[in-house]
Amino acid sequence: MKIQHHISLKDYNSFGVDVNARELIEIEKPEELLELKDKIGENEQLLFLGEGSNILFTKNFNGLIIKSTDEHIEVLEENEDTILIAAGAGLNWDNFVEFCLNQGWHGLENLSLIPGSIGSSPVQNIGAYGIEACDFIEEVFAYDITKSEFISIFKRECEFGYRNSIFKKRKELFIYKVNFRLKKKPEVNISYTALKKYFNESGIYNPSPAEVRKAVIEIRRSKLPDHTKIGNAGSFFKNPVIEHDKFLELLLKHPDIPHYEAENNMVKIPAGWLIEKAGWKGKTRGEAGVHKDQALVLINLGGAKGSEIADLSEEIRLDINKNFGILLYPEVNIL
Ligand code: EPU
Repeated sequence: MKIQHHISLKDYNSFGVDVNARELIEIEKPEELLELKDKIGENEQLLFLGEGSNILFTKNFNGLIIKSTDEHIEVLEENEDTILIAAGAGLNWDNFVEFCLNQGWHGLENLSLIPGSIGSSPVQNIGAYGIEACDFIEEVFAYDITKSEFISIFKRECEFGYRNSIFKKRKELFIYKVNFRLKKKPEVNISYTALKKYFNESGIYNPSPAEVRKAVIEIRRSKLPDHTKIGNAGSFFKNPVIEHDKFLELLLKHPDIPHYEAENNMVKIPAGWLIEKAGWKGKTRGEAGVHKDQALVLINLGGAKGSEIADLSEEIRLDINKNFGILLYPEVNIL
């Protein structure tokens, strides 16, 4: 266990916002979690942090941050078709994806290059290019900080949805390990439009998982900024899901509107398209801005304060509501 006091969080959040935390505790082994009991004061403000790639700090954090640095990988069980792997919460997500692929364990290739850690992957059920983490998660292991006990939650109890899970509600659960069941026989999913287009253009008709990983990395790099160079947290807003009637109304005015069918006769609209259409792509407010290639991504051009980025996001929300009558909700956790 490593404990630090009054520490800058600049290197602990992908927006690169410079705020301080009162205390940061890094946990390497699950057993160390039991020692937290004596360290957490009454009414303590707590934050469980992964790699800080989905968070926007708007002020100093006057509380205790807990972070896993457990990078353990263990094979638990194996049969002809699948393999069950346990991964420590502190492991970098993309390192895990690459490691699995190199072992011949498939399925996660579409989720290549997503920033973040194993521990945060179930929280917002990370997803990209037609796949979500919950397609492969079997069990999540957590420490209940209020009861000081270890629990495990099976996938069916995780209430996984689009960028959602039970872990968004149950803030007392610190995830320290996740079990994934992967496939031993390659079975790729290239149904997402951008992937289909990529393979049509490159003349590859039966791509291997490694080729899918390569494609996803190229597509992501072509429009998503590298947070080590330009601070960002990926998509800032969720893609809104609207009523079918509302969609038909919009379609009359904007026949080119991209859309996807969602559950219960609802329609999902890409927020990036709405933001671009409203003229925000590439716009800046001081050191905060909207990325020039992907309007769903807000960026820190240098020394932006978290509050400046939050203000810009609010301005965009109001404008999208005014222009389209659609309310956007942040995907990023604003603190
Ligand atoms: N679009 C625009 N302008 C833009 C951005 C997008 O018109 O500035 C249009 C595109 O032309 C396309 C549609 O919107 O027709 C969808 O765009 P894209 O494929 O880039 O995906 P997205 O809906 O913007 C979502 C996820 C991403 C994920 C990609 C690929 C959300 C909130 N975002 O973005 O996730 O990588 O799909 O699956 O669901 C993240 O969560 O941080 C993230 C990057």
